[in-house]
Amino acid sequence: MIDTMRWENGKLVLLDQTKLPQATELITCEDYKRVKVAIKRLEVRGAPAIGAAAGFGMVLGAREAAKRPDFLGTLNKIKDDLISARPTAVNLEWAAKKVYALAVKLNGEGLAPFKIIAELEKLAVKIYNDDIAINKRMGEYGAEVLPQNTVLLTHCNAGALATCGWGTALGVVREAHKQGKLLMVYADETRPLLQGARLTAYELVEDNIPVTVITDGMAAWTMKTKGINAVVVGADRIAANGDTANKIGTYGVALAAKAHGIPFYIAAPTSTFDFTLASGEQIPIEERSADEVKQFRSEVTAPAKALTFNPSFDVTPAELIAGIITEYGVVTAPYAENIKLLQAQIKEEL
Ligand code: MRU
Repeated sequence: MIDTMRWENGKLVLLDQTKLPQATELITCEDYKRVKVAIKRLEVRGAPAIGAAAGFGMVLGAREAAKRPDFLGTLNKIKDDLISARPTAVNLEWAAKKVYALAVKLNGEGLAPFKIIAELEKLAVKIYNDDIAINKRMGEYGAEVLPQNTVLLTHCNAGALATCGWGTALGVVREAHKQGKLLMVYADETRPLLQGARLTAYELVEDNIPVTVITDGMAAWTMKTKGINAVVVGADRIAANGDTANKIGTYGVALAAKAHGIPFYIAAPTSTFDFTLASGEQIPIEERSADEVKQFRSEVTAPAKALTFNPSFDVTPAELIAGIITEYGVVTAPYAENIKLLQAQIKEEL
């Protein structure tokens, strides 16, 4: 399995996902600004991965803040700056705030900044390690809901590359493959940046898991003609009523799955839930540059004067979702009630 990131000698080393599958290049981040740039450019991407990267970014930021008179005030600004890199995936905010909250607590206890930084580093490493363990648990719960001969469709990349390892939707795929339940994965190419074709197919080929790449426009027809019996995708933010933001195109996949009577599952850790939002209508949707639609890697694919609309995510209404696979088990309808129970369970564990 591929290493998405490594914390090495106090620096964050990222695998540059924009270059895959043609080249395997690493980026070394020595300060938090470089981490922010990497998140913005999608050199590191996928909700849990950008959360973990932001955790390490906060450690790098704390080193800078320690050189200024107002350690906490500076770190607070760095937190907000990191969070502003991408608005939709709530894991980014979750991790940056978690690291900042620890700094506030330890500062309140009178610890010197250099001691606080050592503790922040331990927390960032824990966020990273926990993510892998959570994905493995999620994979086991997810494999249980899949049929014996699974022909699965997925969208975007919710794999090892989108997380700290193993993956959310692809964690379910990996576990089903281990159990001998998986016949085939159909991977939507995922326009405009091809995370499905470039990243999902790359990961699965590396691990000898059967994968067929299709273009996004082929999803409904593939469901009708290729015996798809499950759809599993990841998530960037899940509202308190179960509405789920994920890569643009997911909503269409969910509608097509409904029309064909195919169960549509989300696989996401509880750090992807935003319990403060009543519904998906409040989820901020990132809009990205027109060039992503009118060009591919600087190859022009549309007239320069054409208008574009480039939302990076869409929101799938909860009623189209058969279940949300989490590290606590599979949450099903009625979502508002069951997500409340999930939130209570998380609080109890803290
Ligand atoms: O723009 P991206 O590539 O960061 O979008 C990623 C997705 O939409 C993933 O499906 C989601 O973050 C879940 S990753 C486990």
